[in-house]
Amino acid sequence: MVTADGLIIDVEGLAKRYGSTVALDGLNLVVPTASVFGLLGPNGAGKTTAVRVLATLVRPDSGRVRIGGYDVIEQAEQVRGMVGLTGQYAALDGFQSGRANLIMLGRLSGLSHHQAKARATELLDRFDLADAADRAVSGYSGGMRRRLDLAASLVTTPQVLFLDEPTTGLDPASRLGLWEIVREIVAQGTTVLLTTQYMEEADQLADHIAVIDHGRVISQGTPSELKGAIGATELVLTIATDSDLAGAADLLDRAGFANGSVQVDSESRQLRLLANERPHIASELIGALSAAGTHVDVLTAQEPSLDQVFLTLTGHAATPDTTSEPSPHGATPVPSRKAST
Ligand SMILES: Nc1ncnc2c1ncn2[C@@H]1O[C@H](COP(=O)(O)OP(=O)(O)O)[C@@H](O)[C@H]1O
Ligand SMILES: [Mg+2]
Repeated sequence: MVTADGLIIDVEGLAKRYGSTVALDGLNLVVPTASVFGLLGPNGAGKTTAVRVLATLVRPDSGRVRIGGYDVIEQAEQVRGMVGLTGQYAALDGFQSGRANLIMLGRLSGLSHHQAKARATELLDRFDLADAADRAVSGYSGGMRRRLDLAASLVTTPQVLFLDEPTTGLDPASRLGLWEIVREIVAQGTTVLLTTQYMEEADQLADHIAVIDHGRVISQGTPSELKGAIGATELVLTIATDSDLAGAADLLDRAGFANGSVQVDSESRQLRLLANERPHIASELIGALSAAGTHVDVLTAQEPSLDQVFLTLTGHAATPDTTSEPSPHGATPVPSRKAST
């Protein structure tokens, strides 16, 4: 679907309160057709509320949302015909197999039996469910059900698909499978609005990103625009000795080399910091560490990661909703360190 202005989603001044909690506070977004839009923000920022308003499930207190030119309140039926939301429309039958469920959903949405079967097989493969495909869903683990639910939302592709933290808690293979499918359906014209707390996911998939906090947009642009906007280089130091890591981070914090806080990744023995404008920062930094007896194996300078952008904008590191499973980075997100005095 192409609207006159090329925008499939147009959100203006959206506000929503729950009692005294302000969930959305004048949210503005525009999303071009056939793109991936990443909505980033810490827990409680209002991401899910925004998605639910856009999917016609929650009525805003004020503001306006158009999807494909249709108003989500006045023309909710037309909007519902265009959008899909993970976990909402997939009524999975526990007595039936995963395959039978997907085929049934395909048939219900107008595919021929042959098409529905082929799509089911493809999705079961993508989400690593081929082995369990013919077993009753009631015997699936939580993770398997989640993957089947994602598959179910992708049996036929709506014009606009909302994915609310789709890969939180997913294993790496299924996460890559989802990314591939997202790229495919976007190439075919679907628009995807994705909320995530995984910066790598946003970096990989999103054409445009809005970082929201307290129900409003605090920054937006393409991933590289966001990285450029914080106007700093990220320095990554690999410290020679494990036991020096924490001390070195403290030293750098205290000596004021970092714009913000120094992040520690003990697995890779790396310290990451946003370099400030200090002259000769690299040699000063190495000098200060050497004087304290800490040796640096590698020092690299790079474009800041979206993690750094997020940390700079929101004041804390991104932490996914679920803590029970590993993050896609293979390590749990590094908690931000406050500069000590
Ligand atoms: N149904 C609800 N009733 C009361 N408060 C809610 C409800 N849904 C969300 N909230 C509150 O609104 C704020 C935004 O929540 P949410 O949209 O879920 O954020 P996010 O998805 O970014 O974590 C939070 O403070 C949350 O507690
Ligand atoms: Mg949420």
